[in-house]
Amino acid sequence: MKKTAQELAAAGTLAAPAYQSGFGNEFATEALPGALPLGRNAPQRAPHGLYAEQISGTAFTAPRSQNRRSWLYRIRPSAVHLPYRLLDNERIVGDFSTAPPTPPNPLRWDPLPMPVAPTDFIDGWVTVAGNGSAESMAGCAIHLYAANRPMTNRFFSCSDGELLVVPQQGRLQIDTEFGVVGIEPQEIAVIPRGCRFRVMLPDGAARGYICENFGPLFRLPDLGPIGSNGLANPRDFLTPVAAYEDVEGSFELVSKFNGRMWAAPIGHSPLDVVAWHGNYAPYKYDLRRFNTIGSISYDHPDPSIFLVLQSPSDSPGFDLIDFIIFPPRWMAAEDTFRPPWFHRNVASEFMGLIHGAYDAKAEGFVPGGASLHNCMAGHGPDAGTFAQASAADTSVPHKVTDTMAFMIETRHVIKPTAYALASPQLQPNYFECWQGIRKNFLPPA
Ligand SMILES: [Fe+2]
Repeated sequence: MKKTAQELAAAGTLAAPAYQSGFGNEFATEALPGALPLGRNAPQRAPHGLYAEQISGTAFTAPRSQNRRSWLYRIRPSAVHLPYRLLDNERIVGDFSTAPPTPPNPLRWDPLPMPVAPTDFIDGWVTVAGNGSAESMAGCAIHLYAANRPMTNRFFSCSDGELLVVPQQGRLQIDTEFGVVGIEPQEIAVIPRGCRFRVMLPDGAARGYICENFGPLFRLPDLGPIGSNGLANPRDFLTPVAAYEDVEGSFELVSKFNGRMWAAPIGHSPLDVVAWHGNYAPYKYDLRRFNTIGSISYDHPDPSIFLVLQSPSDSPGFDLIDFIIFPPRWMAAEDTFRPPWFHRNVASEFMGLIHGAYDAKAEGFVPGGASLHNCMAGHGPDAGTFAQASAADTSVPHKVTDTMAFMIETRHVIKPTAYALASPQLQPNYFECWQGIRKNFLPPA
């Protein structure tokens, strides 16, 4: 007898993720022996009565090194559902051309409160900032999520971009068409554009950040003089093996398309892909495996050494999005101000804190919170951090522990949404953290 999605979830049928290793590999995986056709993609009759379907994440004609597509062998084609209708959801923004005026001030927010009413992963989204638009396929949206109810009766896909999910509190079990991705805080997942999935909450509640990448797919950066190893190593990226369910019932298929949310009735679980092969698929990465590079002589290198994933633009060296982390690390530079220095940057910087404390801010920036330092906004360590670091003994190494912060750095200005600017979590006194910095200038007499 077929089980409902709720029964499947409760029984943990899809709760044992298993993975294949490597970034953007040509994977091949089947949950039933013989489900994957050999030697061709679209045989006249696919094995076991399955339907063959391709999902393309890049242009058909993209250079081979960048071309991403996968072939899915599924119980029903993805076209089998009733028409979508528009959902009202003013918490989601997909076009930042109409955002309110962006203040040049540094901005900082406290964490998004956990919901009181039952709220699933999709209803728990709220857009706080971004640039470009879904329609132009350029830019990004930065969302926060806070959820306390699993998605037992509905599924989701985002046609507007791939989703970089950064949990801050609570594990996520992301059941996708390609298999199950389980992540916990200090891990990330990337769900491809168009991939259908549901999010279960093993810990009952969850909160975190999402970077929706409207533009070119995230990739690993080149390493230049660093060499052939380091930063995020390809083998540490994990893609799920095929897993499926054969479930019929009354479900809702939610789609984010062109900046809006839409919902369609569907009479079966779309997580019915029995086998797949290709290089367009979800993946996860444990940020604690990042091979952190830093100075062993003097000075603090640019934070590009902390780059995990990049979405490149057409101009070499100018990324549309850089996903950067600040992990635990040894600080060994001598006669050096070791925390991040004061600076202004042509790029714009949205930061979040996953765990612990951030070494440039003694207080006020807490896990689940966020900060935004836009193009050319002066920022850096607060007064307390500056006083402490400029008096520290730099003849001995110091280990920064219990921390995991991240930054979404973009080429274009990051515009906070009307929600974010009116949010009670916006800290009105953020500027004060620099006001205690004293004048130390002592010119010779
Ligand atoms: Fe910065």
